[in-house]
Formats: sequence, C-alpha cells, structure tokens
Amino acid sequence: MASMSRRVAGFGTTVFSEINALARAHGAVNLGQGAPDFDGPPEVLAAAVTAVNRQLNQYAPGIGMATARAAIARHAERFYGQRLDPESEVLITSGATEGIFAAILGLADAGDEVIVFEPVYDSYVPNMVMAGVTPRYVALRGDDWTFDPDELANAFNPRTRAIIVNTPHNPTGKVYSRAELTMIGELCQKHDVVAITDEVYEHILYDGVAHTRLATLPGMAERTLTISSLGKTFSVTGWKVGWAVGPEPLITAVNRAHQFITFAVAAPLQAAVATALDQPPAFYSDLQTMYQSKRDRMLGVLQKAGFETIKPQGSYFIMADWRGVAPSRIKDDLQFAEWLTTKIGVACIPPSIFYQDSDKHLGRYLARFAACKKDETLAAAAARLSKLSDD
Ligand SMILES: Cc1ncc(COP(=O)(O)O)c(C=O)c1O
Repeated sequence: MASMSRRVAGFGTTVFSEINALARAHGAVNLGQGAPDFDGPPEVLAAAVTAVNRQLNQYAPGIGMATARAAIARHAERFYGQRLDPESEVLITSGATEGIFAAILGLADAGDEVIVFEPVYDSYVPNMVMAGVTPRYVALRGDDWTFDPDELANAFNPRTRAIIVNTPHNPTGKVYSRAELTMIGELCQKHDVVAITDEVYEHILYDGVAHTRLATLPGMAERTLTISSLGKTFSVTGWKVGWAVGPEPLITAVNRAHQFITFAVAAPLQAAVATALDQPPAFYSDLQTMYQSKRDRMLGVLQKAGFETIKPQGSYFIMADWRGVAPSRIKDDLQFAEWLTTKIGVACIPPSIFYQDSDKHLGRYLARFAACKKDETLAAAAARLSKLSDD
C-alpha cells in the first residue's frame, strides 16, 4: 500500500518543526519561529472569551462574521483609503495561510504559472504544487534585496496567472518601495495578471518606512487580492484568523475554494476582530515602537557577537551573515543553525529553505533570527551569543 500521495511525498517535514524540536531538546532560546512569546492586547483576548461565554460557538457564515468583515473594511479605509464593500469584497480565512492557498486554487489552473520572489515564504510553493501550478522565481539580491527589472519582466509570459508579493517580507525584512510596486503593477496590467499580496506584517515597520498597499496603486484595485491576518499585529498567531480583500469576482473565486477547505473560521475568534482592528492609533504606534526597540537591540547583540547583519525595514526578522562567528568546519546555513541551536543554545532558521534547489547558495551564509520575543528572552539569547565573541 502506498502510504502517501505523490503530491505530498516531496514535502518532507518543515525545518521549522525540526528546529523547534532541536531547540526543545537542547533547551535553546528559540529565535527560530516567527511567533511572539507574549500575549496580545488583553481586551482583544477578552473579546474572544466573552464570545465563547455568550454562546457564539456554532458555525460562522462561510464568508465570515458580518462584524468582522465590517471591521476589516474599516481598517482598509482607515490605513490605506481603500474602500471595500464588506458584503462582497471581504472573505475571512483560517489565517493568511489558508487565504493564500484558497487564492491559488481559486485563481490559477493546473499548468498555469504564478510568479514568486525568492527567498519565498515556505507555504506558497507547496500550495502551488498541490494545485498543479508551476512557480516561476524572481530573485531578490544584495543587502537591499532588490530584483532585476528585466528578470521580473521576463518572468511574465502567456501562462502567467498571478504574482505573489509579500511586503513587508519574510525572511528578509524588505519593504517593497512604491516604485517597485508600481513596476509590478504595470507588468500585471500589461499581461492581464492578478496580484496576490501577503501583508501580514503591514503594521511592523521600522525607521519611518511606509507600507504601500499594491491594491491602491493606479489600475490595481480591480486585479489585486490583498491578504492579511490578526496573528502578527495582535500577537495571536495561534488564532489563525485572516482575510482576503479585493474585487468581488476575485473574492468569489477564492471563496469557491475556501468553502470546501475550511468552510468557516472559528466563530468566537472572529468576534474579536473588531476589537482588534479598531484599536486606537496609539496601539499601532506603540507596536512599532516596541518592535523597533527589539530589532535595534538584536541588531546590536548580533553585531557584537560577530555577525554581519542586514537591517530589516519591516517584519520581525533579522537576516545575518554567520561567517564571522562559526567554526571553519561549518559549511552551510543548515549546519550553522544546528550548531548554534545545540552548541550555543540559540535557535535560528536556515534561510536556504526559502529558496528553490538551484538557488540555495543565495541563503547559504545567512541565518534568520526572530526578534518578536520578550525582553527577558532576548536578554537570555544575548548572554548566550556573547560567548561567540569571548574566544
Ligand atoms: C509571510 C507570511 N505569510 C503568512 C504567514 C502566516 O500567517 P497566518 O498565521 O495568518 O496564517 C506568515 C507567518 O509566519 C508569514 O510570515
């Protein structure tokens, strides 16, 4: 008996699970996975608890609870001036992850191509493989993670159905500039392609850098599906409450897939969406201040330990070149992540997992650290990393 379909046989277990297991076994401070080790705002948590106690425990509507959809539309208008009809242009999904999978299934056919930027968030390509869609890669290079405009233009062809843009970007911390997004938007219009954006880090930005929503650029409202979630902004990654917003034909297509993947998202958690997104301006600015201080602190710790860091503009990740700190027998990022976790006691993610096989060398000398941790956790990591510069 075949124990597995050919569709999933190539996936293996994710490096995230392996690093987490290794970190647990060795008591390492885990700066691997991008999940905060602290809770979100108490009033947001309380709103979900209240909903459970008020018997909001049966299926929510498939497209999402009306109060949550209205709050998502308000948030889009408040931050981006994007006007959405909550009845037809907002769909609640089980995290951004399900939104992206449903988008690929709902918008692209087997044999179509979808363009992604590399390094690429780890779920997109397996999603495409499951949908029979072919990924087409465009590399982000150099310390500012720019792409070659010709390489991007050449990636578009008659089979291209969509492009996925993740900004702010995991794992690099890149925030796509308005000029870059304009170029992407123009190519989408020229080739009649849909843009799917993953904006889960939309509120985690540094040094006054602005986040541009591709859907708001000229000609893009009718061909952009914007995906985001509560997880990162409200430190509730375990809730898996996300959404896709965009023009009605795209939302209808995504919902065709969504209705047969999850059908509906956890009702009491959706009941907390309005409390979360309607937070006053101080919440959003305090979030940036908090993460700016964590990022700056970790940049300092890593530099002092001997890493060469690449300054992120957004997200809560820091990429760093480890060649200045590792023993000479360490040859690649996988060996480095294992060594740092087991011998130094700090877990990180090896970025080559975000590249296709032929490009893995682009992540070979890097490590990804997540700074979304309590100050005590960062202090414990700092103490262990300081050993690297002792000898
Ligand atoms: C770029 C990116 N997209 C999506 C997700 C997952 O979002 P959610 O938890 O809302 O499914 C993550 C989480 O790490 C991410 O980094």
